[in-house]
Amino acid sequence: MSERDPKNRSKEWFGTHGKDGFNHRSWMKNQGLPHHLFDGRPVIGICNTWSELTPCNAHFRVLAERVKRGVYEMGGFPLEFPVTSLGETLMRPTTMMFRNLASMDVEESIRANPLDGVVLLVGCDKTTPSLLMGAASCNLPTIAVSGGPMLNGRWRGEEIGSGTHVWKFDEMVKTGDLTLADFMDAEACMSRSIGHCMTMGTASTMASMVEALGIGLPTNAAIPAADSRRNVLAHMAGRRIVEMVKEDLRMSQILTREAFENAVRVNGAIGGSTNAVVHLIAIAGRAGIKLDLGDWDSLGREIPCLVNLMPSGQYLMEDFFYAGGLPVVIKELGENGALNKNAMTVNGEKIWDNVKDAVCYNRDVINSYDSPFKDHGGICVLQGNLAPNGAVIKPSAATPKLMQHRGRAVVFEDIDDYKARVDDPDLDIDETCVMVLKGCGPRGYPGFSEVGNMTLPAKILKRGINDMVRVSDARMSGTAYGTVVLHTAPEAAAGGPLALVRNGDMIELDVAGRRLHLDVSDEELERRRAAWQAPEPPERGYARIYHDHVLQADRGCDFDFLVGNSGAAVPRESH
Ligand code: FES
Repeated sequence: MSERDPKNRSKEWFGTHGKDGFNHRSWMKNQGLPHHLFDGRPVIGICNTWSELTPCNAHFRVLAERVKRGVYEMGGFPLEFPVTSLGETLMRPTTMMFRNLASMDVEESIRANPLDGVVLLVGCDKTTPSLLMGAASCNLPTIAVSGGPMLNGRWRGEEIGSGTHVWKFDEMVKTGDLTLADFMDAEACMSRSIGHCMTMGTASTMASMVEALGIGLPTNAAIPAADSRRNVLAHMAGRRIVEMVKEDLRMSQILTREAFENAVRVNGAIGGSTNAVVHLIAIAGRAGIKLDLGDWDSLGREIPCLVNLMPSGQYLMEDFFYAGGLPVVIKELGENGALNKNAMTVNGEKIWDNVKDAVCYNRDVINSYDSPFKDHGGICVLQGNLAPNGAVIKPSAATPKLMQHRGRAVVFEDIDDYKARVDDPDLDIDETCVMVLKGCGPRGYPGFSEVGNMTLPAKILKRGINDMVRVSDARMSGTAYGTVVLHTAPEAAAGGPLALVRNGDMIELDVAGRRLHLDVSDEELERRRAAWQAPEPPERGYARIYHDHVLQADRGCDFDFLVGNSGAAVPRESH
């Protein structure tokens, strides 16, 4: 195999004479494709995560057609292909378990086929990192196009946000403030248009990361899926990718260290999801860029949260778009020394040139850097004997007075134990306690589920208390909120100290000091460790591969053998 100029990569298939060229062209022509399309023009793959099992991406056939229009206009040859689609709300145990599997599908599908450039259609949470990871391991010219958020949810005169209001309504049902019939009535009102979650959850966060990294076109983050301008964005991506192939502007020229630094800071400024920590570390790993938990803390430490969006705030993505969207946020960072202005983006411009003329139309939604929505937006990275390799907390979603707290541990050994006992009236717990959940990390459960924001016990909610300190090795939905410590590494299932916590132990959380401490002597912890037994691994199949190779949360949960990239070398013909 040899590395080829991507401008000529497809010619290895379509530009040859003899039997092989005949085979490559002839079968394609059964789709009614005329001969001139095989004349060496750029072949653009449209990597589609459309699926009726991924409702957030169910409109992607339309989006793909718009990309094709743009490709044809510029003299390219578009070819759409499906890849594994990860539907957040349906897949069990969790889509996170399959992110790496999907990334392998993407990487191998791109490399194995006659493609010179790729447009990635991404939307629902894991579809963005899985496609970026796979594509980065190939390093062709690439543009990501997000599907866009749903229109604002509306229920009985109230604006309701994806996920965020599910947590709220669930608590209200528990406290008797909402009937089950009303709860179910809200379902259709929350999700009333095409698109992904319209809170600043993981999907909107990752769409913002696409724009901040420069791997998507400006305004990618916020245009609602139902807005005609989303189709225009896809059309323009189709036009631009053909030019990118001709310019040989590859992914590696976009996904630089400077771009990742920008993305981390933007995540702070939008009050973005903690899931972005794991995904960006994994994407950086594929791109050969060093990015670790320490970078998240140091780069995000001084970044204020500018955006007043649920779950941290009041508004939704539709409002964010009308207020000016992500370009306004990036401009604020640039004007305050928190942007690598020269980072290159897919439209061939430096990121500062894309945003310097952005205008804010609503300062309630996008606050200025000098008068932010919240002083601290960045993800805080905690360390201590309970998380030697780190844990994270999102201060913008937490209760300020709980960020310095010492409390008695109430331990749930796994998610089943939590579900069985959390609402037991005899559970020995009050609001000063620290809820601890084990066995939900990357290997636990398995798959690193979004259960870290454990709903509080009903008897505490009924007293009007809606936040407590919670500690786990799990993730949390980007739509969720609370004083929730997540991603403790190493996880309990890998023998991390979380496995050794017992009821009644005292736990200290000091967010300002970046400390998470289990107040138990080293000697006692060693005694407990000697008695600890690792859970049995899955017997077979993908679950076994996953268990044996997934890296811990602080390293992005990629598979150990997938970190890095292999380029876009054309594989040898085998027939
Ligand atoms: Fe798909 Fe939230 S469920 S983005």
